[in-house]
Amino acid sequence: MNYKKLIEERKSTRDYKKTTVPKEIIDEILQFSEETDKLIPGIETELLALDKSKVYEQLKDTAGYQGIMLEAPHYLIMLSEVRGYYIENAGYLGEKISLKALDLGTNTCWITFPESEKVKKRLFLNTDMEIVAIMALGYDANKSRVVNQDNVGDNYSKSQLKIVKNNVSTRYSIEDLVYIKEWGHNAHYDELENRGLLDALNYARLAPSTMNRQPWRFILDEEKVVLAIRDDENIREYDEKIDTGISMLYFESLVRQTLTETNWVLDEPDKDYHQPDNYKIVGYCTI
Ligand SMILES: Cc1cc2nc3c(=O)[nH]c(=O)nc-3n(C[C@H](O)[C@H](O)[C@H](O)COP(=O)(O)O)c2cc1C
Repeated sequence: MNYKKLIEERKSTRDYKKTTVPKEIIDEILQFSEETDKLIPGIETELLALDKSKVYEQLKDTAGYQGIMLEAPHYLIMLSEVRGYYIENAGYLGEKISLKALDLGTNTCWITFPESEKVKKRLFLNTDMEIVAIMALGYDANKSRVVNQDNVGDNYSKSQLKIVKNNVSTRYSIEDLVYIKEWGHNAHYDELENRGLLDALNYARLAPSTMNRQPWRFILDEEKVVLAIRDDENIREYDEKIDTGISMLYFESLVRQTLTETNWVLDEPDKDYHQPDNYKIVGYCTI
């Protein structure tokens, strides 16, 4: 998959055409979910694709921001075994599936939900696995157009970034998100460009997150890129971990596409970065 292109084109789709997605495309999405690499190799997951009649009314007033359930012709439901880092894994895998769905011409949106047990009961799902992700799936009712974005400053032009024009969600700039060696020591574009990381970080900042809170900060420390995630009071640990997995996918796939092979280590490096109390170091990769 061309991650750069897909990240440029993606946005959360909330209005869907009534048209259903052909079975062959849904089957391809399901097959991809079984075959693609995960953040945590070997963790058992299962993806279900259910039609609107089996999900929408059942989750109305329960799932979605403020209980506003998105109406779509299909829903993707991800189940997972409960093991170390299974939620981060679901964020990584779920977003990869969402980009694959876009690659196949369809659109998606993550949907927040209450505890897994409640949703399993409502959907009559009899399984020991936990529900770890719900996404709407269908075709965008509002046509989108991809253009060069020209209002983000000269330095961004170096990374040839384009994004969807009618995507109303905004993002922090690279200066806000990337530190060099220590917390609060802001990165300069030239430094990032010299290290070949400008593109990867520029695309990583476009990751979707719960309530668009963009909780990620990156610390570049010699050959290590360290990821810190903000802990917001109104956000559940589940959403925090999903956001972590999604940002790991974006950064890793862009580094792989533009620079070199890399993998996340879900641990803290043996160093104190003096991050504020509301930030947690969740992993690092070596480049
Ligand atoms: C874990 C997660 C849960 C989300 N839940 C919802 C939701 O319930 N309803 C909704 O409209 N959008 C939901 N979103 C979409 C985000 O609000 C969206 O990704 C963010 O605002 C950025 O916008 P964009 O995806 O269009 O770039 C969710 C996103 C994530 C990552």
